[in-house]
Amino acid sequence: MAGMWKDYLKRHHDRFLEELMAYLRIPSVSAQSGHRQDVQRCAQWLKDHCESIGLKARLIPTQGHPIVLARTPRRARSKKPHFMVYGHYDVQPPEPFELWTSPPFEPRIQGDNLFARGSTDNKGQHFVHLKAVEAYLKTGQELPCDISFLIEGEEEVGSECLTPALQKLKPELDVAAVVVSDNGMPSLKHPALTYGLRGVTACELTLIGPNRDLHSGIYGGAVDNPAMVLCQMLAQLRDAQGRVKVPGFYDDVQPLSRLERAQARKFPLKDSVMARALGVRSLFGEKGFLTVEQRAARPTLEINGLTSGYQGEGSKTIIPSKASAKITCRLVPNQDPKKILRLLKKHLQSICPKTMRLHFEPGHSGKAYLTAPDGPFAKAALDALEMAFGHQPILMREGGSIPIVNEFKQVLGVDTLLLGLGLPDDNAHSPNEKMSLTAFTKGMHMSAELWQNLAANS
Ligand code: BES
Ligand code: ZN
Repeated sequence: MAGMWKDYLKRHHDRFLEELMAYLRIPSVSAQSGHRQDVQRCAQWLKDHCESIGLKARLIPTQGHPIVLARTPRRARSKKPHFMVYGHYDVQPPEPFELWTSPPFEPRIQGDNLFARGSTDNKGQHFVHLKAVEAYLKTGQELPCDISFLIEGEEEVGSECLTPALQKLKPELDVAAVVVSDNGMPSLKHPALTYGLRGVTACELTLIGPNRDLHSGIYGGAVDNPAMVLCQMLAQLRDAQGRVKVPGFYDDVQPLSRLERAQARKFPLKDSVMARALGVRSLFGEKGFLTVEQRAARPTLEINGLTSGYQGEGSKTIIPSKASAKITCRLVPNQDPKKILRLLKKHLQSICPKTMRLHFEPGHSGKAYLTAPDGPFAKAALDALEMAFGHQPILMREGGSIPIVNEFKQVLGVDTLLLGLGLPDDNAHSPNEKMSLTAFTKGMHMSAELWQNLAANS
């Protein structure tokens, strides 16, 4: 029986790539309002595509971008177990354009890689599951389970409309587990089951000084400089090892178990290799933790963007009227994003000098996710990974965030199997994003196996 889907995946491989490239040509950038029409068009494309492979699909409108919900056709009173695949059709902004070797929305295959914004994050990764299911539907091979696809258009901006929508959709999402490929694996020789993700909380801090940009010769020395004060305040938020200096920040942090620390020691990527690949002279980080722990299991505070004063050509002698910083914290289990934002705001207010007015704008947030990777579904996933990749999979936590995964647990009451197909050099969120074609092909096999294994373990 396995031969049927396997043969189909092989025979239609080139068409799958053509289709994925059509999907990638749509610039579905959720963060930029100028792309609103493109995001809508992308949702429509995906819905139509789901229908073309034999799924029943619909668009669910939200205050923001629509959700695509598609399901395998069912016989009445089907007793099959039901699973859900989650993914996102929105992509990160492509800027800076000049650093792309080829335009971000003109997909290009070179060697084993498919380059385009959204290739690994996340269109290519959830496409794998659509094609695996297509292989069953189009060969008439019976799928051992019902599968729903929930693909949203706002993951890259915090999934804020999906949480309320999830409540409404709960009756039809009576699933036993969620499957997500929106993350990574250390290498093609190290397929991985991820059992934890960091949470995140975002905010923007603005310092307001004089009511207009001032001549720095006429007023400098007597009127304080928002850009300078912003730097001084930000510099107090973290020490040189990355330890966050906001009082109370670590209060609720769940320590790592002995078992987890042992697992982290087995993580296959070397620090020196990573440093070289990223072009940094040296890594850094909190003392007493391995790099993989620093990246996946410890909380952080980062500046994501800084804006103030004159950014154009040449020099301009001014005291800027304001200065702002976009900040996010990555969070670990037991940290409450809202509480962290409160602590941060309070601390910033306490260190802000009288010369400035402070404006604090809270942004999106989501809790960390952590589950025990030892149930029958985890076993099903590990077996599918091993079968498809030909290597024993590893268990790991990752540092990125998929906030809705925690909501799946809260609202639907189920765990998520995170089966990432991204590689460390895939350039997610960076210029020259790509997906490995080997990961794409093996990912389809993994998915096709997975449905058998999950049903057998239900
Ligand atoms: N695919 C990532 C999440 C990810 C990346 C998880 C690598 C694990 C490893 C996702 O698209 C993403 O970028 N999420 C955002 C969430 C944020 C905007 C709320 C993130 O992590 O920054
Ligand atoms: Zn992303």
